[in-house]
Amino acid sequence: MESSGKKVTLQLMLAVGAAVIGSLQFGYNTGVINAPQKTISAFYNGTWIDRYKEGIPEASLTTLWSLSVAIFSVGGIIGSFSVGLFVNRLGRRNSMLMANVLAFVAAALMGFSKMAASWEMLILGRFVVGLYSGLSTGFVPMYVGEIAPTALRGALGTLHQLGIVIGILIAQVFGLNSIMGNAELWPLLLGFTAIPAVLQCALLPFCPESPRFLLINRNEESQAKNVLKKLRGMADVSADMQEMKEESRQMMREKKVTIPELFRSPLYRQPLLIAVMLQLSQQLSGINAVFYYSTRIFEKAGVAQPVYATIGAGVVNTAFTVVSLFVVERAGRRSLHMIGLLGMAFSAVLMTIAMALLDKVDNMSYVSIVAIFSFVAFFEIGPGPIPWFIVAELFSQGPRPSAFAVAGFSNWTANFIVGMGFQYVEKLCGPYVFIIFTVLLLFFFVFTYFKVPETKGRTFDEISAGFRQTAGAGAGEKYTPEEMNSLGADSPL
Ligand code: GLC
Repeated sequence: MESSGKKVTLQLMLAVGAAVIGSLQFGYNTGVINAPQKTISAFYNGTWIDRYKEGIPEASLTTLWSLSVAIFSVGGIIGSFSVGLFVNRLGRRNSMLMANVLAFVAAALMGFSKMAASWEMLILGRFVVGLYSGLSTGFVPMYVGEIAPTALRGALGTLHQLGIVIGILIAQVFGLNSIMGNAELWPLLLGFTAIPAVLQCALLPFCPESPRFLLINRNEESQAKNVLKKLRGMADVSADMQEMKEESRQMMREKKVTIPELFRSPLYRQPLLIAVMLQLSQQLSGINAVFYYSTRIFEKAGVAQPVYATIGAGVVNTAFTVVSLFVVERAGRRSLHMIGLLGMAFSAVLMTIAMALLDKVDNMSYVSIVAIFSFVAFFEIGPGPIPWFIVAELFSQGPRPSAFAVAGFSNWTANFIVGMGFQYVEKLCGPYVFIIFTVLLLFFFVFTYFKVPETKGRTFDEISAGFRQTAGAGAGEKYTPEEMNSLGADSPL
C-alpha cells in the first residue's frame, strides 16, 4: 500500500535532524579517544606519579587505557538493552530528551577529570556516555522508522548512520594534535559531548511524538492524526491512519511483547534471527578493527602519514553513507547489504595480500590504503546503515522495543569483542588477521541471500504479515525471501 508518498516536509526534517544528533554523539565518542591516546596516557602517568611517587608501570597503563576505550561499549551493551524500559512509558521523543541527562553527566566527568586529577572520572564518563549511546542506537532508529513515510523509511533510516559517521569524522579531525588532541585541550575535546546534548535538548521539544506511539500505545487518535498531518504536510492522512490501525489491531493480539516472549514465540523466530544476524554481520565484518586501530594498521603497512590516512578513511566513510542514502530506496536493502558484504570480503583479501607482500613488492602501502578505503566504502553501502533501521521494519509495534533491545545488545557485544580481541588475534595471525573477517563476511553473505526478505516499499504491517504467514506455515524454510515478499504484499488491508 503506497500511502504518503515521498514528501519531505520541514517538520519531518526537523524531527529526524533532532533525533540523529543522538547518533552524532555516539559517533563522536566512538572516534574521539583514538588520536589523543598518547596525550591522555601522559596524564594517567602524571597523576600516578603525583599519587604514588613513581611512574605508572607499563602493564597498569595498558589496562587503564583498554578500560578507558572498552568501557564505552560496556555502557553501550547495558544502554541498548534497557531501551524497552523507557520507550513505552515516556514515549519515543521524551526518552531521547531524558537520555541527555547522561550526556551532560558524562561531559562533566570527562571534561573535569584533568582538573580533578582523576582518571576514574574519565573512565566513569566514558561508561556513562556509552549508556547514552546504547540508548540512542535504539531510540533513534525506532523514532525515525516510526515517523517516516514508507517510501522514505530506508533513506531517512540511513541518516542515523550518517550522523554516526559525521560524528566519527569530527572527532578524528578535532582530535588532531594541532587542534584539540594536545595536553592543554584534551579535556575540552572530551567535554564537547555537552554541545550536541544542548542542541538536542533545544530542538526536541519542537518535535512531535511518534504518531504510532500516540495511536497504538496511547490510543490518542486525534492527536496522532494531527501529528501525521504536520509530518506529511497534507490534510488527508487516512491511508497512514488506516495502516497504523491495522497494526494496532494486530497489537491487541500481541500486546506488549517482553524479551523472553520474543524468544519463545515462533512468530518472531524468523525476524529475530534476521535482526540479530544483521547486527552481527555489521560488527563482525571487522569495521571497528579499522576505526579503532586504523592508524596502527596504516603504520604497519608503511604509510608515511598514518593519521591523515585515518582521516581519509573517515571521509570515504561519510561519502559512501551519502551514496547509500540515495540508492537504498531504489536498490533495496537486501541487494545493497549483499553487495556491501561481498565488496568488503574482496577488500579484506586485497588488504591481506598487501600486508603479506609489504617487504617483497614495491608500493604495497598504497595498495593497503586502497584496500582499507574500499573496505570502508563497501561497509557504508549496506552493512553500516541497514542493520540499524531494518529492526524497526522487521517488527510491528508490540515486539519492536524488545526487538531493539536484543538487536542492540547483539551489536554492542560484538563491537566489544572485536574492540578487545582484535589486538590479541592480530598478534597471533600477523598480516593474515583479516582472513578471519573474510570468512565471516562470506558466511553473512550466504545468510542474507537465503534468509533476508526485501522490506523496501512495504508497510510495517505488510512485512509482519509476511512473517506471520511463514510462521503459520510451520517452518520458516518453506518460503524463499521472494515468496515471502509476495505473501506480505497480498495481506488484506
Ligand atoms: C556503524 C557501527 C559502528 C561503527 C560505524 C562506522 O554505525 O555500528 O560500530 O563504528 O558504523 O561507520
